[in-house]
Amino acid sequence: MKRVELGKTGIMVSRLGIGTGTGLPSGHCAQALMDKDELARLLLYALDRGINLWDTAFQYNTYPHIKEALKQVSRKDVVLTTKFSAANEMEIIRDFNITLKDLNTDYVDICLLHGVRTDTELQVRSDAFNAMVKLKKEGKIRAVGLSSHGLSVLKSVLEMPEIDLVWARVNYAGLNMDTGCLGMYDQMASIYWLKKCVKLLPARVKSLIRPKANTQPIPEDAHKEVTDTLQSIHSQSKGIVGMKVLAEGELRNDVEKAVKYVNSLPFVDSFIIGMLNKKEIDENCKIVNTASREQMETEKQVS
Ligand SMILES: NC(=O)c1ccc[n+]([C@@H]2O[C@H](COP(=O)([O-])OP(=O)(O)OC[C@H]3O[C@@H](n4cnc5c(N)ncnc54)[C@H](OP(=O)(O)O)[C@@H]3O)[C@@H](O)[C@H]2O)c1
Repeated sequence: MKRVELGKTGIMVSRLGIGTGTGLPSGHCAQALMDKDELARLLLYALDRGINLWDTAFQYNTYPHIKEALKQVSRKDVVLTTKFSAANEMEIIRDFNITLKDLNTDYVDICLLHGVRTDTELQVRSDAFNAMVKLKKEGKIRAVGLSSHGLSVLKSVLEMPEIDLVWARVNYAGLNMDTGCLGMYDQMASIYWLKKCVKLLPARVKSLIRPKANTQPIPEDAHKEVTDTLQSIHSQSKGIVGMKVLAEGELRNDVEKAVKYVNSLPFVDSFIIGMLNKKEIDENCKIVNTASREQMETEKQVS
């Protein structure tokens, strides 16, 4: 599997990464429900195929599984990303220390503010971001950024030199991408105290009010605005990692087209897919490896 540098972080990752936060219709995380050893084996299987970018978050409940997998590899062979919903310094420090302990590691490669929906929300959570920057200076984190759930956030990233990288939702169908026009759920979730209230709801209720991927194709001009913004971010030497490549499985009947599309975007360094079994890992690796080979051959012919 081809390796690429994430922006100018010096962090080398595989073109394809593995996600551990795939939502089920019940509102639970599919990987968190897997047996600890089963997900650990799947992560190791992915690593064997060259996938060194493992994605998690404080709220996915997959730290026990990842800890199990990390026991069986050299720590430096894995690029571990986690995300925090924290809004202030105290919460980040608390959740970061729990993360180190729960994963039994002394550093995290990449830390992100989780699911930021608006530029206002980013401002409200700026203390949390600054705390991550401090942890980076202390050598406990290698790169910092955010995972985006809205266009205004992506635009704000252009004004923030401290951001090393961005996780952004992108797929050919425009499903559940980072639109500038947020629905009721996302508007509510961008307000810190309301988000905390929503978190207290049972998983089943949360999944009922959460917008489904297949209900939100964004218009073509909005799709272009997102990709143009990502292009601008990338031209500032920030890393871009694509997510929701298969729109939470909605594009599962068109996997090749979906993976090839994101793989072809010049501003996407790497992308993560929630892969729940070996067959999905094999299939997605094959698509990415074939596309990389074809691209190299074309480049050779051109030169
Ligand atoms: N930062 C954030 O705010 C945020 C939010 C959500 C998720 N994430 C991260 O992004 C990752 C990716 O998102 P996601 O998992 O929700 O969506 P996704 O990657 O777009 O889709 C995952 C689904 O695609 C299906 N799939 C994968 N490979 C396949 C293949 N070869 N053939 C057929 N189906 C295939 C699987 O479905 P079935 O096996 O069920 O068919 C899986 O459930 C998550 O796991 C998580 O790590 C980040």
